[in-house]
Amino acid sequence: MRFDDIPVMAGGAPLLGHIPDIAEDRLAFVRRVEREVDRMARIQTIGTAVFVNHPEVLQEALVDKARSFEKSSMTRYALYPLAGEGLFTSRGELWRRQRRLMAPMFHPAQLRTYAADLVACAERVVAGFEDGATIELARETTRITMGVAGKTLFDADTFSEADAIGEALTVALEWTSAHSPSVSAIAHLVVARTLRELGGRVGSNLASSAAARLEQPLVLTGRDGRALRSAVKLLDEQVQRMIDARRRAVSPHADLLSKLLAARDEDDGTAMSDKQVRDEVLTLFVAGHETTATGLAWSVHCLCNHPDVYAAVQREVDALDGDPTFEDLPRLSLTLRVFKEALRLYPPVYFFARQAIEDTSLDGHDVPRDTVVLISPHALHRRPDVFADPERFDPDRFLSEAEAGRHKLAWLPFGAGPRVCIGNHFAMMEAQLVLAKMLRHASFRAVGVEAPHPSATLRPAHGMKMKVHLRQRRSA
Ligand code: HEM
Repeated sequence: MRFDDIPVMAGGAPLLGHIPDIAEDRLAFVRRVEREVDRMARIQTIGTAVFVNHPEVLQEALVDKARSFEKSSMTRYALYPLAGEGLFTSRGELWRRQRRLMAPMFHPAQLRTYAADLVACAERVVAGFEDGATIELARETTRITMGVAGKTLFDADTFSEADAIGEALTVALEWTSAHSPSVSAIAHLVVARTLRELGGRVGSNLASSAAARLEQPLVLTGRDGRALRSAVKLLDEQVQRMIDARRRAVSPHADLLSKLLAARDEDDGTAMSDKQVRDEVLTLFVAGHETTATGLAWSVHCLCNHPDVYAAVQREVDALDGDPTFEDLPRLSLTLRVFKEALRLYPPVYFFARQAIEDTSLDGHDVPRDTVVLISPHALHRRPDVFADPERFDPDRFLSEAEAGRHKLAWLPFGAGPRVCIGNHFAMMEAQLVLAKMLRHASFRAVGVEAPHPSATLRPAHGMKMKVHLRQRRSA
């Protein structure tokens, strides 16, 4: 079947099609996809784009035909100033080499080495809770996961939101969120593509290299552009300082930065350049901390709205002998299911994309090269034929029998295929341990109503206000 036979989503303005809708309120658009798209629908934009919303078609795009699709130009453009050619944004041979080098650092067997640090980071934050106080839970979980990132990446003990790197990352992430997609970003990428096509047609290297250069923002103007420039400058300096210190260090650190510097390609024995290490460090920082913090906050939100589940989780975490440890993970199975169900309802990465790098097909339809494939775990996770009564919070959807009865790609908070989240096991362990630590230490009661806000991740719009009551002042 032809590409043009794929149904088109209704609406769309002249010239820019659905882009203004997506740019204006991504979540509202995703909600429409949830209602209107069964398998696949075309989106009106400059160039060709489809929204895919069925596990079988996602299996094709993300797994079976993964070699025909790459990260989209928009993803790369929006993340370039921060993450450069790190694992999240890189393509082709560079990505394959980096994934090979970094996979061992996130192997499940390595997780044990991080567990105690995770609990210590949670301890530092919950120790500051005051009995009866109202807190913004999303801020607190961010402080925990930022601490975890600082410790595991740089072996830094006193890492918090107030630190310079944390602030600079927040500025850079805000820019990313505002520019993916924006009309100026789209115009920019259209010029890049036209140049690339021109280069291909007339065989001009100049046009092709100009197009490659145009895949990143060229001039950062306006207040947010200037703020981004100085944030990136600070990040570059700080990370370089740490790289230099590691290179000079006599006794090795056990942090990820040291592992990145020590990694050698198995084929040619080469190490990463400082620039590549910088890109990977900032990628891991960005990809790992806000996603997990958001998932943790939504987990507590769901518990507060479901007192029966909250009571059962409380029993589970209270049955531990003391602070949660790596060995306790099998005893925290309901805690894990709560996190998974929170990621189903509020997937932090609620929107991601691919781009066809050759002519291919999806669901029996031709898909021309350069077609953008949009995917929303938020919409996918609300398919009533897969998750009955989809808005209902029910951690038992993740009992192993229930999981076995579903298509593997029906639950997609971490993506799938070769580009699946490299930190997914880390994030789930972090969630189990941190949730157990928080719930043993304090009880939480929601103050007011919370709604998701579609920024770089699916954050709570009001920071998730909670009243806390301390249950035990000291870790048992
Ligand atoms: C709840 C927490 C997390 C969520 C929901 C999440 C989600 C995702 C998703 C959806 C992708 C794939 C995007 C795509 O296919 O385009 C991804 C990729 C990635 N994530 Fe995560 N992530 C989480 C935690 C982490 C952590 C803790 C780390 C690192 C410490 C991390 C590092 C990465 C990296 C490096 C990639 C790119 C992998 C590649 O392309 O090879 N993430 N994540």
